[in-house]
Formats: sequence, C-alpha cells, structure tokens
Amino acid sequence: MIDAAQSEQSHCPVLPDAVVKWLNASAGGQFLDCTFGGGGHSEALLCANEKNFVYAIDRDPSAKKRAQEFSLKHPNFRFYQINFSEVECLQLPRLNGVLMDLGVSSFQLDDESRGFSFKYHAPLDMRMDSGNGITAEEFLRTADERDIVTAVRDYGEEDGWRKIVNAIIENRETDAVKYADTFAKIVASCLPKHAHSKIHPATKTFQGIRIFINDELRSLEAALPMVFDRLLIGGRLAVISFHSLEDRIVKKIFNRVCGRAIDKFDSQSQQDRASHGNILTKKPIVPSEVEVENNPRSRSAKLRVLEKTKDCPWQR
Ligand SMILES: C[S@@+](CC[C@H](N)C(=O)[O-])C[C@H]1O[C@@H](n2cnc3c(N)ncnc32)[C@H](O)[C@@H]1O
Repeated sequence: MIDAAQSEQSHCPVLPDAVVKWLNASAGGQFLDCTFGGGGHSEALLCANEKNFVYAIDRDPSAKKRAQEFSLKHPNFRFYQINFSEVECLQLPRLNGVLMDLGVSSFQLDDESRGFSFKYHAPLDMRMDSGNGITAEEFLRTADERDIVTAVRDYGEEDGWRKIVNAIIENRETDAVKYADTFAKIVASCLPKHAHSKIHPATKTFQGIRIFINDELRSLEAALPMVFDRLLIGGRLAVISFHSLEDRIVKKIFNRVCGRAIDKFDSQSQQDRASHGNILTKKPIVPSEVEVENNPRSRSAKLRVLEKTKDCPWQR
C-alpha cells in the first residue's frame, strides 16, 4: 500500500540508516538527493562524513524555502527547485550516490492549503509544484472519463473505482469537488464502511489523483536513467518507493541496467543484453517494526539499491 498514514507526526526520514549504509556515505563523496522534502536524508548524508557534499532537488517551492534555511547550517549543500526528470539540465559532477525518496512529504500532507489531505476544508489542489500544472479540482472538472478511470482505478488501485468515477462525473460541476474534505465525503459515500479500518476510505482515490496530476510515474521513469548516467563507476543509486507502480518501474529499470529480463514478457535474447550494474538488494529493504511504530508513513516503504559497474549507452 501507500503513504496513507497521512502523518500527523513531525517530519521523520524513512530508513535513514539504511540509506547512509547502502550509499556508502561514511566513506565520503558527492551525493544527489532528488527529493529534498524536509532535508532529513540530506542531513543524514552530510552527517555521515564531514567531507560529503550534497546536491538536492525538489519541485516544491516550499521545499526551496526549507533548503535555504538548511544551507545556512550546511555549507556543503546546494539546492535546485526542479522536477527530477529535468536533472540532465544541471551541471553536476559525477556522483558517488543518488537517493530518490518518492511520494509526498509530511510537510505537504500537513499543510492545509495544499489540499493533499482529506482531513481539511482546503482547496483541492494537490500539486507538488504549486506554481505549475492543473490542480486536482481542475482535473476532476475537466478530464476525460478515461483519465479519471486511470487515476482512480490504475494509480489508486481502488477496487470501488466504478462508483467513485460515476460520482465524480455526477458531481463535478458542483462545489463538492472544490474542497478536499467535501470531495473525500463523496468518495467515502461510494464505498462500503469498514468499521475497524484505520485508513480513510478516500486514501487510495486521493493517491491516484495525486499521482496523475503530478505525472509522478512518468517523471520517475524519465529520471532513473538520467541519474544512473551521473553516477561514477562504483556509485550507487538508492530508491525508496511507497507504491507498487513506482516499485515496478524501479525494478524494471534496475533489471534493464543489469542485463536482466525486465519482466516475464521480455523475450529479448540474453546475448543482446548488457550489464552495467549490480542490484545490491536482492529483496527490498523494508523498515523494522519499531520504525513503523514510530513513523507510520514508513510502513509501505521499499528501498532498492543498484551499483554502477559500467557507463550505459541508453536506448530510451
Ligand atoms: C517523501 S518526500 C522526501 C522527504 C525527504 N527524503 C526527507 O527526508 O525530508 C518526497 C519529496 O520529493 C518531492 N518530489 C516528488 N516528486 C518529485 C519530482 N518529480 N521532482 C522533484 N521533486 C519531487 C516532493 O515534493 C517531496 O518534497
């Protein structure tokens, strides 16, 4: 499942020790944190060795403000407010390690004005880059039914998608899709009540819409080869995903880089494959029970790590 804990606790990075260990950060080097958020991982990487330098990216303008404060404490740090799928535009050195910690941060979830959380009577926005793209409200009002199905059924993995999509189409000219809490009520009214579930019934639908309007999967698929290119030989790429579709993309690209079949339908002959890396995590690293208890947002996290052995002439 997902980042559905919709955290109420303060910000806390997921699997910080594992990230430092698998990126070999205590050995010293230059790192790229593609998802700065609140800077938890950037800080862990900088603290692992005083000679480390961290470049960081986030598409969210509020992350830029946090990064400005962060840089006052950490001189070996530089921030860029861009989508990580545009990382090729940056003049970066070759890197010892790259981290992607996908999804939304607790800052985004807890900021009422952003519309990520169904808890608040706030405009249904959900854009990570609040200066660009269409809001979730505009999407619900104007999208083709097919795109709404993609968001709710495919990206939200919501079993009750048909009723929800019908309710969206019926209500999309009303104020019900204007606010996060009123939209969440419509979604909840379409689903059977599970008295003991701790997860809000609108969680999956919110997630699917968020993934759609922020084009999250395409950004990930575009960025993985780019960041792999920026690694030194022996450099490592670590990705923390929270959603099965993200994890599938990570596995597919890691397999391709390592000269393996990308999935069971891949019939390319072995001699046409080339290996440019090794997957270091045969199974994904997941948080301990203690971490999940302390930080419920971590519960669906999966960390996968790849080490580069050769430069890769991509055929994207
Ligand atoms: C899970 S949070 C990262 C938290 C961070 N690791 C920390 O310890 O504070 C994910 C962050 O990545 C950013 N993000 C997600 N997709 C992005 C993309 N395509 N380009 C740039 N930033 C992105 C979000 O805006 C969010 O701030």
